[in-house]
Amino acid sequence: MKRKIGIVLMVFMTGIGALFAGGTKETSEAPRIGVSMPTKDLQRWTQDGDNIKMLLEKSGYKVDLQYANNDIAVQASQIENMLTKNCKVIVIVAIDGSSLTEVLKTAKENGVPVIAYDRLIMNSDAVRYYATFDNYKVGQFQGAYLRDTLKLDTAKEPVYIELFTGPTDDNNVNFFFPGAMDILNPYIKKGVLVVRSGQTEKAQVATPNWSTEEAQKRMENLISAYGYGPTGTKLHAVLSSNDSVAQGITNALVAAGYTKENFPLLTGQDCDITSVKNMLKGRQSMSVFKDTRTLAGKVSEMIDALIKGSEPPINDTKTYNNGTGVIPSFLCEPVFATIDNYKKLLVESGYYTEAQLKN
Ligand code: BGC
Repeated sequence: MKRKIGIVLMVFMTGIGALFAGGTKETSEAPRIGVSMPTKDLQRWTQDGDNIKMLLEKSGYKVDLQYANNDIAVQASQIENMLTKNCKVIVIVAIDGSSLTEVLKTAKENGVPVIAYDRLIMNSDAVRYYATFDNYKVGQFQGAYLRDTLKLDTAKEPVYIELFTGPTDDNNVNFFFPGAMDILNPYIKKGVLVVRSGQTEKAQVATPNWSTEEAQKRMENLISAYGYGPTGTKLHAVLSSNDSVAQGITNALVAAGYTKENFPLLTGQDCDITSVKNMLKGRQSMSVFKDTRTLAGKVSEMIDALIKGSEPPINDTKTYNNGTGVIPSFLCEPVFATIDNYKKLLVESGYYTEAQLKN
């Protein structure tokens, strides 16, 4: 009996010992992954950051998650720091797609693969993979929505619109804006759709940093220059490439006196809480839902594959050339969102709680 207890005790102790040794070993050897995000100002990136950190930690990685306050120099030094701290893979949402070349050279020299997250990083062969949404499709959803809701194919009178997109240094803008304009341009050419300001080129309609304030300022200027208003010059629609820009446009339109009853159609993207609330108040017409849980999930699969030496998931090998060649990509599916399907998309899927969307 004594012997039996002794053996049981021994097995038990060895078990604890192994568990302890295993535990310490695992934490001290868990590969560190760097995640470099642009800013905490936009809901989108805090959500992406939290999701990716949670998934990577679940898979046993250590995560160095940094936000750069939309400052390019800060982002470069945070990445440098990740390299010093021996990160094995670095995931980056670039503030400016073209200004990380130097620090990424160091990554390449150290054999650290870089994954461009959501925005492509240009002119660097350190970028091994790219994960994003189908950005052209995002623009197409916006353009098709405006074409169909404004009934451009049968319109007898001119339809008035103004155009807004994001900053020209975000490569996604090269997909969002043409995605929409490939649908709208033929109607502009025919004179069915009229942009009174004449501002139709990407550079003319760009919004620095996707800033709500900058978008608001530009919309206010257009309102005072052309007299847009519910009882003034007609404005039927505003194309906006995303929600942070749409929110600035909404502020300016509300200040100009537009109400739920006569609000111009206004597009967006991201399903930011503020924009979903605006949709519910009749102050934005649609958005595009990009489930950041899916994107974060794909990126953590990519990282796992890179660390384990297997093939990362990709589904596109032709669309995204960063100047050094095509970057193998995974494109997630964006989804068209309005007040008709927001409950299913955003609440039932657990993305937001109903309470978060209360006005
Ligand atoms: C993202 C959008 C986002 C925008 C502003 C883009 O690169 O694809 O989802 O709205 O940046 O942060």
